[in-house]
Amino acid sequence: MKKNRSFFVTGTDTEVGKTLVSGALILKLRQLGLQVAGFKPVVAGTYLDDSGNKLNEDLETLRMAAGPLSFELTLCPYVLDQPVAPHIAAYTQAIELESVHIQEAFQKIYSQFDAVVVEGAGGFLVPLNDHDDLGDIAQTMGLPIILVVGMRLGCINHALLTCEALQSRHLPIAGWVANTLFDEMPLINKNILALKNRISAPFLGLIPTLPKHLQKFANAPYSLEALEFAAQHLNLPR
Ligand SMILES: Nc1ncnc2c1ncn2[C@@H]1O[C@H](COP(=O)(O)OP(=O)(O)O)[C@@H](O)[C@H]1O
Ligand SMILES: [Mg+2]
Repeated sequence: MKKNRSFFVTGTDTEVGKTLVSGALILKLRQLGLQVAGFKPVVAGTYLDDSGNKLNEDLETLRMAAGPLSFELTLCPYVLDQPVAPHIAAYTQAIELESVHIQEAFQKIYSQFDAVVVEGAGGFLVPLNDHDDLGDIAQTMGLPIILVVGMRLGCINHALLTCEALQSRHLPIAGWVANTLFDEMPLINKNILALKNRISAPFLGLIPTLPKHLQKFANAPYSLEALEFAAQHLNLPR
């Protein structure tokens, strides 16, 4: 049961709206009365707040979406400083990213909540170390996948490649979301139709470009209002 309400959110690329959709999913699950947490296997890129605490905007977004229950928890076992590919960020800090450590951190959160929304890092096959990638992490977690398609030129190919990778690892695709980026792509509806005709998993919604006052600054978390806006355009998988 918990497995059907927890999701692993992947995307066609980095910067396609995974965090926006993950935060919105957390809100939708909370509306069902569930206690929900967010989780990220690894983040790369931190900033300092006014008190000198090292923060990451994805984690702050997931934390805010989940509410006070997750404030004190470790939502990510590896918070790396540089905004570069995770295994490279880890290398520069003389750290090796270990799948076992990620799974332990995940299980700890998973055992405490009714549902967990895991946001992947980058695209589906981002490497963790010389042996493992994010796809391996998703496979071990075994959660249904939600694919976020950032609607821009090239996204049809990226979406179909990702679906093939998911299928080759026998991962169930619970649904896919079309996210309009800052610049709406020309003929977006024709592109969505092309994807609907080629992806058998359910289409969960089209998130429009965020209204200007809800758009976020680089290196800042989303506002709750931005997540609520996205949630209004998103259906939970059945
Ligand atoms: N629907 C949207 N409208 C406007 N800007 C968006 C939208 N979705 C994402 N963005 C912008 O694109 C960038 C990447 O979004 P994010 O959710 O962080 O993606 P990811 O988690 O895949 O890296 C952010 O700067 C965000 O503000
Ligand atoms: Mg993100």
